[in-house]
Amino acid sequence: MLKVSPSPTLYYNDRSLNSMRPSYNRDNVFLNEEHRRIFETTKYIPGWQMEADSYKLYELGYYAGDVILEIGTYGGRSAVIELRGALSNPDRLGPPQFFGVDVDRKSIRRTFYTLNRFGVLENAFLFHGTLYRFVHRYQISPTMVFMDANHRYEDIVEDIRRLTTILPAGVPVLFHDFLNPENDTGEYGVRRAVTEWENDGYGTFIGAFGCSALFVSGQRCCGNGNSLSRDEFDQSRHRLFRSYKLMEKKGDKTIIVPEEKRIWSFHDDISLLSRIKTRILHMLRPR
Ligand SMILES: C[S@@+](CC[C@H](N)C(=O)[O-])C[C@H]1O[C@@H](n2cnc3c(N)ncnc32)[C@H](O)[C@@H]1O
Repeated sequence: MLKVSPSPTLYYNDRSLNSMRPSYNRDNVFLNEEHRRIFETTKYIPGWQMEADSYKLYELGYYAGDVILEIGTYGGRSAVIELRGALSNPDRLGPPQFFGVDVDRKSIRRTFYTLNRFGVLENAFLFHGTLYRFVHRYQISPTMVFMDANHRYEDIVEDIRRLTTILPAGVPVLFHDFLNPENDTGEYGVRRAVTEWENDGYGTFIGAFGCSALFVSGQRCCGNGNSLSRDEFDQSRHRLFRSYKLMEKKGDKTIIVPEEKRIWSFHDDISLLSRIKTRILHMLRPR
């Protein structure tokens, strides 16, 4: 952990200018060579990122990535970037803790193996379920947040409401798809939900980057959760990973279940089966 996770220091008011710019005072735009190359390094991981999104996530991880909370992990692309940023800060006194929440079991599995391939799995805790259920079970105090789950207005309102209960003041929160044109048609409700949260005094807009908008949580956010000790973090994540059949006990060790040897689970493929059923019913439909 850093002694204190710093809040961003550079604010940009223009909501349409979305180029890559730093949010913390420093001499160079890029923090290091890995930052400069992070988009290229991670672009083959499944996910949706503009270059400026990736640069911002790395920067936030570097400065504020002690306890990272991400809603919507999909394939682990953003998770890898945040963790690589957090791990690259030489002033960080302890290992960063990443908490990823996703309602899709396949996303959890995909993210798990991506994080393993990129050597950052031991800093990661993945939770299968909603933010509501996560917050109910774990009292964490995030130092940075990436919101990138469902884009429907009602779902985002619900996630933001949950987030606000645990969020302390001064924390950077990056909302993906805030600039997505689908917000204009109403198909996406990110901009509307986040702007309402802002107008209610919970956050201050501090810049647009790629497809995302960065806010810093305001004084109305008064979450005061704890951080998990290293042991609690490890024990809880191992327990969850075993229950997801991604890890297993071998003697007194917990080891990763190899990706290719993983036991087929009906649960994982239920959505595929239901898609096949829909297709068959569609083909059999009288015309
Ligand atoms: C756009 S993808 C995330 C991409 C990822 N953040 C990245 O940049 O690499 C959205 C993810 O959100 C998940 N999701 C959808 N609704 C959710 C919800 N209500 N709570 C948590 N995750 C959700 C989906 O399963 C999907 O994996």
